[in-house]
Amino acid sequence: MHIVLTGGAGFIGSNFVKLVLRDRPDYRITNLDALTYSGNLENLSDIEHDERYTFVKGDVRDPKVLDAVLPDADAVVHMAAESHVDRSIMDSGPFVDTNTRGTQVLLDAWRRAGGNEKRFVYVSTDEVYGSLPLENPEIKFTESTPLDPSSPYSASKTGGDLLVNAYFHTFGMNVVTTRCSNNFGPYQFPEKVIPLFVTNLIEGKKVPLYGDGKNVRDWLHVDDHCEAILTVLEKGTAGQVYNIGGNNERSNLELTHSILEIMGFGEEMIQYVEDRLGHDRRYAIDASKIKNELGWGPSRSAWPAALESTVKWYVDNPQWWQRVKSGEYQSYYEKQYRSRT
Ligand code: NAD
Ligand code: DAU
Repeated sequence: MHIVLTGGAGFIGSNFVKLVLRDRPDYRITNLDALTYSGNLENLSDIEHDERYTFVKGDVRDPKVLDAVLPDADAVVHMAAESHVDRSIMDSGPFVDTNTRGTQVLLDAWRRAGGNEKRFVYVSTDEVYGSLPLENPEIKFTESTPLDPSSPYSASKTGGDLLVNAYFHTFGMNVVTTRCSNNFGPYQFPEKVIPLFVTNLIEGKKVPLYGDGKNVRDWLHVDDHCEAILTVLEKGTAGQVYNIGGNNERSNLELTHSILEIMGFGEEMIQYVEDRLGHDRRYAIDASKIKNELGWGPSRSAWPAALESTVKWYVDNPQWWQRVKSGEYQSYYEKQYRSRT
């Protein structure tokens, strides 16, 4: 099995590459990544010489690079995206261009490469369902919840979802879609709430909590997400959507208190700041379909242990996030790759 993974230099992608190399000795994986601000090849420095791994610097919006890479693939896992909601509020253009148009360019290239019958996994998000009220904790997103995205980020991901579904209906393409809740774990870009708060505290800075802190997210360890994607790639039914979640809902205030407690800080380190525009109130995933049909369930997300080990990873790896926060990681490609070609 030769997988072409898009976006493999990011948070989830780099963890996925390592999972595949570790758990599937007969698989090869090619990482196609444009190395935007969140793409960091240092995430993969420990496996970059593995002969089953190849890196290609390329953009999912570039048909030429796709036509060169895809014909040799048995499957595509499409993760490349602009991923941060706050950035999409500041400038939605790159989100529509990569997340929606990029998905269309990739789907067409996959057909040209003879991939119509072969597996295409689209890594979507629970944010395509929009926001749930806090008042009805029994309601969760199922795969038949109507799509109702509310941020430019989630709207642009929904564009990708709809195209993938359209290619199944129109061309019979062998597609599957995953919609996962919030991930946490090593190598997450420190603009996202957990690594931002942990690294701020290590630096002696306060943590900026949006609004009243009552917004709820359903937290899943990245290893569980990656295992679920692999399960869907191998066993999912064409044309189907699979929700992925940790059954682990926490308000941002609860999350913040847990981080403060683990790190030995008090309430005074919380700085309440202006709310995110259009801030979705609650996400909660019903993941019974993937459990009942494909046998997947989370095994590494239990709190507090999974949060503690994640905090510890950032405490133990200051060189990683300091280089990311200072922008130095962006020269890694030049040093390690361009010099070899
Ligand atoms: P990330 O921002 O850490 O990584 C994104 C990667 O995509 C980077 O390596 C970047 O260089 C690459 N990329 C961006 N634009 C590209 C383009 N035009 N061509 C090629 N590569 C490009 O994001 P992440 O958190 O790892 O998320 C990965 C995927 O998972 C995204 O599709 C996101 O929507 C989805 N997702 C994320 C979460 C989460 O909690 N982080 C949850 C559910 C779904
Ligand atoms: O649900 C899946 C989604 O989770 C993914 O599709 C996205 O790619 C990913 O970024 C994530 O989106 P969120 O917006 O939920 O994640 P973020 O880490 O940005 O914020 C989590 C919560 O914390 C959210 O309610 C906003 C709040 N927050 C965030 C930041 C960055 C704060 O209170 N302060 C902050 O500084």
